[in-house]
Amino acid sequence: MMDTKLLGCVVLFPIQILFCILKATVRLLVPLKRKDLVADVVLITGGGRGIGRHLAKEFAKQGARKVILWGRTEKCLRETCEEIAMTGTECHYFVCDVGNREEVYQQAKVVREKVGDVTILVNNAAVVHGKTLMKSDDDALLKTQHINTLGQFWTMKAFLPRMLELCHGHVVCINSILSLSSIPGAIDYCTSKASAYAFMESLTLGLLDCPGVDCTTVLPFHTDTEMFQGMRVRFPHLFPPLHPEVVAQRTVDAVRTNTAFVVLPWTMHLLVILKSLLPQCALEEIHKFAGSYTCMNTFKGRT
Ligand SMILES: NC(=O)c1ccc[n+]([C@@H]2O[C@H](COP(=O)([O-])OP(=O)(O)OC[C@H]3O[C@@H](n4cnc5c(N)ncnc54)[C@H](OP(=O)(O)O)[C@@H]3O)[C@@H](O)[C@H]2O)c1
Repeated sequence: MMDTKLLGCVVLFPIQILFCILKATVRLLVPLKRKDLVADVVLITGGGRGIGRHLAKEFAKQGARKVILWGRTEKCLRETCEEIAMTGTECHYFVCDVGNREEVYQQAKVVREKVGDVTILVNNAAVVHGKTLMKSDDDALLKTQHINTLGQFWTMKAFLPRMLELCHGHVVCINSILSLSSIPGAIDYCTSKASAYAFMESLTLGLLDCPGVDCTTVLPFHTDTEMFQGMRVRFPHLFPPLHPEVVAQRTVDAVRTNTAFVVLPWTMHLLVILKSLLPQCALEEIHKFAGSYTCMNTFKGRT
């Protein structure tokens, strides 16, 4: 016999789901309240160039108290840091390879001592080797997994505990639409991004009962930076690359509105829906037609 409490839960469940759908629809139509960032210290991995650089500028522009940049190339970090400092926001940079666990823990300690507690962590750093499995050497495959996936484990272990103590924090992952729909020729990247997606999905659910600490995962389509240089899609006018400034703006807005998942552009949702509905042979035809099947043949990006 079902007890009364359980029966109540079963009856309430569909009503709760309907309420969530209604709330999400209203969120699309009504301007949302945005949290301010005046008390926030933001750390961005790979903050010296590409999307990370624009993220740093956007967080500063939208009022973050301090911005910290991590990366491997000191010159880019210094230039971005100087640019931000000129706008009046306190900015610091530290050379740190996120694929190196000891270095992450060591630099996290330095950040805490020199700058203070990080309240917004943006895991943005990534690399793409961009070859098929048989053409990739083992070291290159491992390097991508270390930077794109494991690096997020280390940064999270370094900064999340303090956010939980403070009941104030936000964890952001700049992922990729390729985490949900892979292409050939970037097997290292797609695998690492799929793994990072599962990591964020698990973390987002795991933090449900931790008030004040939220997560955002951003899944952009091809973006106009150095990362995928040479990659060619078949219909560039139909599927133009995103501008990194736009990815940065949408990310900071998602943080301020506590949005858990953002797909950019929104039309990429169709890809995800089709993927779960169509038979494999139809999906293969879509990949061939859209050119994603061969787009990495001309890839000459950088790592
Ligand atoms: N570009 C796209 O088409 C695209 C599309 C979807 C998603 N994304 C995602 O957006 C994020 C940023 O990519 P992007 O397009 O801006 O690429 P990018 O221009 O190549 O920048 C990558 C950044 O990651 C840093 N980085 C790489 N390895 C690192 C390491 N071991 N430790 C610390 N920092 C490291 C780089 O700095 P250093 O070299 O100085 O270390 C650089 O700042 C990535 O997560 C990427 O997967 C990009």
